[in-house]
Amino acid sequence: MLGANAEIIKNINLAFLKENKALAAIGGKCVYLDKDKAAAYLLEKAGCRLYNRAKAIELCDDKMLTHAALCVSGVNMPVTVPAPLCYYADSPITEEFVSCTEERLGYPFVVKQNRGSFGAEVELIKNREEFLLAENKLRLTPHFYQQFIAPGGEDVRCIVIGGKFVCAMKRKSTGDFRANIELGGRGERFEADEELVEMCELAAKTLGLDYCGVDVLLSRDDKKYLCEVNSNALFSEAERVCAVNIAKKFAELIISE
Ligand SMILES: Nc1ncnc2c1ncn2[C@@H]1O[C@H](COP(=O)(O)OP(=O)(O)O)[C@@H](O)[C@H]1O
Ligand SMILES: [Mg+2]
Repeated sequence: MLGANAEIIKNINLAFLKENKALAAIGGKCVYLDKDKAAAYLLEKAGCRLYNRAKAIELCDDKMLTHAALCVSGVNMPVTVPAPLCYYADSPITEEFVSCTEERLGYPFVVKQNRGSFGAEVELIKNREEFLLAENKLRLTPHFYQQFIAPGGEDVRCIVIGGKFVCAMKRKSTGDFRANIELGGRGERFEADEELVEMCELAAKTLGLDYCGVDVLLSRDDKKYLCEVNSNALFSEAERVCAVNIAKKFAELIISE
């Protein structure tokens, strides 16, 4: 539509990365729809300009790395406590860790695996019993605990392309504290204020993203907290409710560079 040629290359074809033919095919610009960071770095070494870049995908793929990358940027985030990384499933859970986390977060709070999508690895912890159950279950899985931003059940998904805020969609769920569309959340157009625009653009810039979906939580007193940043955000629902052609804006950015 915009006069550019595009070719779809599946990840199984990356096995031929070293052959000149494959190198030539991918030697240009590439909208990278995978989260395979190693393959992304290999493609960049082969001279490909990835949208998004490998480093940005890596930072977003791990919510704790995202947090670390943003924690001195000025972007407001919920209080976040990383769980100690363990090498043995029977490593003791210390009273110090348990009481310190309880003190910092207060019940209820949220547990998340560092990697996860569609709300599947996110749970609400209401008391110490649930906390210890979660900690025991996740001993060998990178995870963290996070302040619960009440009321829950809703957030705002914001699309940023080329460093510029594009549109926002409020997502609401009735039966779940997680607002993910995949879990039954419903989207509606959301009028962003300047503070939200600035927050999303700063997050995208700090993480080095060309395209992303920033999830923002709004507290009861209307404070904004960055929840997570999706380098591979699905956008069909946001396109539908905001009546914006997101794919076209993304393509225009790639062609313009
Ligand atoms: N700290 C929090 N307080 C309140 N709700 C949260 C919090 N973190 C996540 N949620 C809810 O859970 C949903 C899924 O969490 P998120 O971190 O975006 O994981 P995923 O990558 O699985 O979408 C969010 O869209 C939001 O509705
Ligand atoms: Mg999310």
